[in-house]
Amino acid sequence: MPALEAREYTIVSSPAGHRTDHPWWVGATGYEVYIRSFADSDGDGIGDLRGITDRLDYLAWLGVDAVWITPFYPSPGFDHGYDVSDYTGVDPIHGDLADFDDLVARAHALELRVVIDIVPNHSSSLHPWFVEALEGSGSPYRDFYIWRDPRPDGGPPNNWVSHFGGPAWTRDAASGQYYCHLFLPEQPDLNWENERLREHFDDILRFWCDRGVDGFRIDVASGLYKDREFRDNPPLRPVRTGMSNWAVFDSFEHRYDMDQDRTVEIYRRWNKVVAPYGAMLIGEIGLWDNPGRIARYATGGEGLHGAFFLQLGRMGWTPDALVTVARAMHAREPNRMSWVLDNHDQSRSATRFGGGEVGAARSLALTTLLFGLGGVPFLYQGQELGIENGAVHPNDVADPIAILNEGTVGRDGTRTAMPWGPGRGNGFTTGHPWLPARPRQASETVQGQKSNPSSWLNRHRDLLAVRRSHPDLWQTPAVWHDTGRDDVAVVGRGRTCVVANLSPERVTVDLPEGEWTVTFVSSGEPALRDVRRVEMPAESTLILADT
Ligand code: GLC
Repeated sequence: MPALEAREYTIVSSPAGHRTDHPWWVGATGYEVYIRSFADSDGDGIGDLRGITDRLDYLAWLGVDAVWITPFYPSPGFDHGYDVSDYTGVDPIHGDLADFDDLVARAHALELRVVIDIVPNHSSSLHPWFVEALEGSGSPYRDFYIWRDPRPDGGPPNNWVSHFGGPAWTRDAASGQYYCHLFLPEQPDLNWENERLREHFDDILRFWCDRGVDGFRIDVASGLYKDREFRDNPPLRPVRTGMSNWAVFDSFEHRYDMDQDRTVEIYRRWNKVVAPYGAMLIGEIGLWDNPGRIARYATGGEGLHGAFFLQLGRMGWTPDALVTVARAMHAREPNRMSWVLDNHDQSRSATRFGGGEVGAARSLALTTLLFGLGGVPFLYQGQELGIENGAVHPNDVADPIAILNEGTVGRDGTRTAMPWGPGRGNGFTTGHPWLPARPRQASETVQGQKSNPSSWLNRHRDLLAVRRSHPDLWQTPAVWHDTGRDDVAVVGRGRTCVVANLSPERVTVDLPEGEWTVTFVSSGEPALRDVRRVEMPAESTLILADT
């Protein structure tokens, strides 16, 4: 018998419970839970860990492999949990550590993986580290944050701007120094040059791995290191009063405040910390349109295991551009991207893509193409229902971006409650939702769609099942066939083939060689003309399998 060769990966169990020779996330699909709005178990109007646990059966039924839960840590809530005041606790509004342990146990019993959000770029200004740091230069925690002296005229040390509007610097009256914050002043940036801080984060990762988590979604993963000389960012266009926060932010090349080459070193270190637990690291890489820079974080798998590609989540229905952008990213990193159309920061794709049934159909057509591109695609809660943004009354606006920047549409629309069933509260809460919105129609809810085999919910479920039962869709190298047009894509993968016609008309598409049968169709009725040609309805995607 030939000697067994050493394997690259340790043997772990797959989501389906089978022993495999690859890490759990290879071939997996994820689902983002925005905790505040997913399920409220105690009637206070805010989603919580018990609410999630109660709904895990639904996620297992839907067929996802991993659940990413947005921050549940103690937080004053200036950015709804992304301002953490204790990295190893649970905010009482979301439950306690025992609830977390129950959630992990139930998820694992259902063979679901648990991915938690970690927020290393900044803490809350009420974190004890920052409170101590405010004591001045003698404080042992002063150097956990980024302090600079004012310019000679007393102004901020450089021209960096916050993502949420205004300068990225706030002056501390007691010391006269400025501290850096890429987001709110209540979210001071941590100083990753400090080895003691890095050690603290190693311990935080271990703390949660010891409690059984299977991975981390890293918030603002490309932001951690800053330029050592704190140089001004090169301006791209003049900034004028009245510009939105995003327009101001996009008026600079973010050469010195974000995406420093060294940041990947942090993830190489974290990779070693989590390796004994078999946990995944997947980063939010906020470099919208730079595939080469985005890929660096994950390529090779020695830093991050995956990187979110967020550009598609900002785009409207522009079929040529959507396919071109996805293809360019896929060409740079074919295995380790996390493809997303929706998340808690962007307008929902069904809305962006035209609204109603049309928007939902377009969203599923593009999702189907992305499900054939490898990596770990994620759905965002409610995406499987084809729902649009919720309608929030202007008096109820809660997103700090909208509050700080008059006239800017914030992120509330995508964050309204998950519609489980009809009626007041839509089954999300028995109380008053923290983000009031117009109740959803019965047809928009889980209950209203579950028993209808052709509902958006069941079509997403079918798609998840097809991806699971056809490993070629993610493990065999992809070949993009020439179709002669950008809005039509044919991606062959072993004994599967994904055909996307995002154009507004019926088209006949040539297929690679194979004995094809249709295993999934996002909408409409495709017609297989003969073995080599399929007539595709407009704005639809299908998955073929060679039988
Ligand atoms: C990330 C989160 C977003 C948050 C920001 C600051 O982009 O997804 O919700 O506001 O980081 O932490």
